[in-house]
Amino acid sequence: MAKPKRIGILTAGGDCPGINAAIRGVGKTAISQYGMEVFGIASGFSGLINNEFISLTESNLSGILTLGGTILGTSREKPFKKNNDQGSDKPELIKKNYKDMKLDCVVCIGGNGTQKTASMLSDIGLNIVGIPKTIDNDVWGTDFTFGFDSAVNIATEAIDRLHTTANSHQRIMVIEVMGHAAGWLTLYAGMAGGGDVILIPELKHDLKDMNRYLMSRYNRKKSYSIVVIAEGIEFPKEFRSAADYIAYSIESETKIETRKTILGYVQRGGSPSPMDRILATRFGSSAARLIASDDYGKMVAIKDSHTISIPLKEVSGKLNLVPANLGLIEKARALDIFMGGN
Ligand code: F6P
Repeated sequence: MAKPKRIGILTAGGDCPGINAAIRGVGKTAISQYGMEVFGIASGFSGLINNEFISLTESNLSGILTLGGTILGTSREKPFKKNNDQGSDKPELIKKNYKDMKLDCVVCIGGNGTQKTASMLSDIGLNIVGIPKTIDNDVWGTDFTFGFDSAVNIATEAIDRLHTTANSHQRIMVIEVMGHAAGWLTLYAGMAGGGDVILIPELKHDLKDMNRYLMSRYNRKKSYSIVVIAEGIEFPKEFRSAADYIAYSIESETKIETRKTILGYVQRGGSPSPMDRILATRFGSSAARLIASDDYGKMVAIKDSHTISIPLKEVSGKLNLVPANLGLIEKARALDIFMGGN
């Protein structure tokens, strides 16, 4: 009989809701379906460098489905980055520790940066399977990442709450949403929350046009407006944030009282939504199945509601940005929502 496989799981990059559900999905399937031994590697790629890991068993995988964050901890360690501290050869250290731990595969749960490192580790001979996660939904090759749906829910609830206070005071409310260079989270939360203006990095906008649009709402007796903007839109260096800049531009041009809210890290915290629990579980379980069939160097993904896998090489270094011809953008414009990009 072949000896049971030993696998490691690590979580790297910014955290998001659903990571623990994915760890559980990999671990439980690996143990109960395939009889593998499972280890959790601490703090992303740092744990692989420093040989920090714990055994993951059926008992410590229980009760984590609904838990936010990551039970393994995370870091933004990039082992292939040149000029690393102490001149140590981190990729070599990782190779050595992987061998010493007698691992058959490492599952790398993370966003774009993580999948890039995962691909490079695969290139130097490690067996790797990637699982995409991020609230930004910007990982290339998958329709959705887990974390995104939870963050859309959180941001939408925040926008809902801004409507009532904006209405009471007849103000313009600017809300800044995360997403790095991608506008997915802003677009979805902006649409779900009934934003009047939605600004995303992928669509160029003229602030004079936006202010004219806000003035025309005001003149049509719309008592307030909600402006949802992505943190990644361009703004001059003298401003601290996109929200500062947009709120300043609106108030100085329209003279309508304007307030800003930067939603920040609440978007990444707390329990995953049911949709994210399911997506993370599907990804985790699919990753275990890939390992069982010795199918390495791949990232699990979802395409047209089916779980698939694609070579890490294809994913590496690319970004999934909002396409300008997305149907939802067209619908937004048809509803007279200001999006720019025309
Ligand atoms: O990638 C997820 C994300 O939350 C982005 O939306 C945001 O720009 C970034 O991480 C913040 O990163 P950090 O955790 O390093 O502050």
